[in-house]
Amino acid sequence: MKIALLGCGNVGTEVVRLLHEQSSDLAARIGEPLELAGVAVRRPDKDRGDLPVPRELFTADAQALVSRADVDIVVELVGGIEPARTWITTAMAGGKSVVTGNKALLAEDGATLHDAAATAGVDLYYEASVAAAIPLLRPLRESLHGDRITKVMGIVNGTTNFILSRMTETGATFAEALDEAGDLGYAEADPTADIEGFDAAAKAAILAGLAFHTRVSAADVYREGITEVSASDVASAAQMGCVVKLLCIATRAGDDVTVRVHPAMIPTSHPLAGVNGAYNAVFVEAEAAGRLMFYGAGAGGAPTASAVLGDLVAVARNRRNGARTASESTYADLAVRPMGDV
Ligand code: HSE
Repeated sequence: MKIALLGCGNVGTEVVRLLHEQSSDLAARIGEPLELAGVAVRRPDKDRGDLPVPRELFTADAQALVSRADVDIVVELVGGIEPARTWITTAMAGGKSVVTGNKALLAEDGATLHDAAATAGVDLYYEASVAAAIPLLRPLRESLHGDRITKVMGIVNGTTNFILSRMTETGATFAEALDEAGDLGYAEADPTADIEGFDAAAKAAILAGLAFHTRVSAADVYREGITEVSASDVASAAQMGCVVKLLCIATRAGDDVTVRVHPAMIPTSHPLAGVNGAYNAVFVEAEAAGRLMFYGAGAGGAPTASAVLGDLVAVARNRRNGARTASESTYADLAVRPMGDV
């Protein structure tokens, strides 16, 4: 089964390592080996140290790579809207399954991608797009599909949670904590997406869409980042027995859906108050299941690569069995509003 990898940054590098280190286990789980057909990067000649990939597999021509007849699965880890959307839709039109971590694209134009996957009869998996290593989208997409979800709430951005935790625990300044988050590989290439809440809003849109079986885009999400949160806000919260967290809150009441992302003070006794560093935690409330909590590493190369590999195994198995996991074919017609009536 041949894989084309688009992008070889923090996450792509870890995907390559895991594919190499776990090749025999993966082959046993799938029933045949996974083989890298090519890796599309901006600079194919860059020295990549001891990365276990022959130099000749690197290419700058992603469009040609996703169009190759021998490629079965495309893994897109470049991010952004274009050219990622063109590469993904080209791949699917050519019968390839796609695994992506591209939350910005899914939140902006997920409907186009889902429709393209359905038309082509291929899989589109994107567990890595929200909360990295935490299995969250598959439970929403599959395990909870027989239930009625009423609320999804939690911390879905590792960088801002890391910054707020550092400010609370060590008195670090915002700038110091942001630098550290960048060095640890949590922040986006442009950390504005993290600190202004765009990254969390994209994830909120994806979560709400899956949870409520409707179409939600990033533009439907009320968004406020953490750039206005000062050291004195954090200190005042502490005096009141609270911590400041950037929360994503999506609720459904009848046919009304509201989705928002903003900083909030929460009491230290609340389970989300103990979620620190780049960890994420998400509560899902469903009518029959009750309240579920998902918790774990929400950012970073290896945790995100774990989600990508899980998706790779799933889509590779499906291809071997001549199957695909159907996307939602009809959507509930709900009124999606950023803030509702609060
Ligand atoms: N920049 C993102 C975060 C990476 O900090 O959560 C994981 O999506």
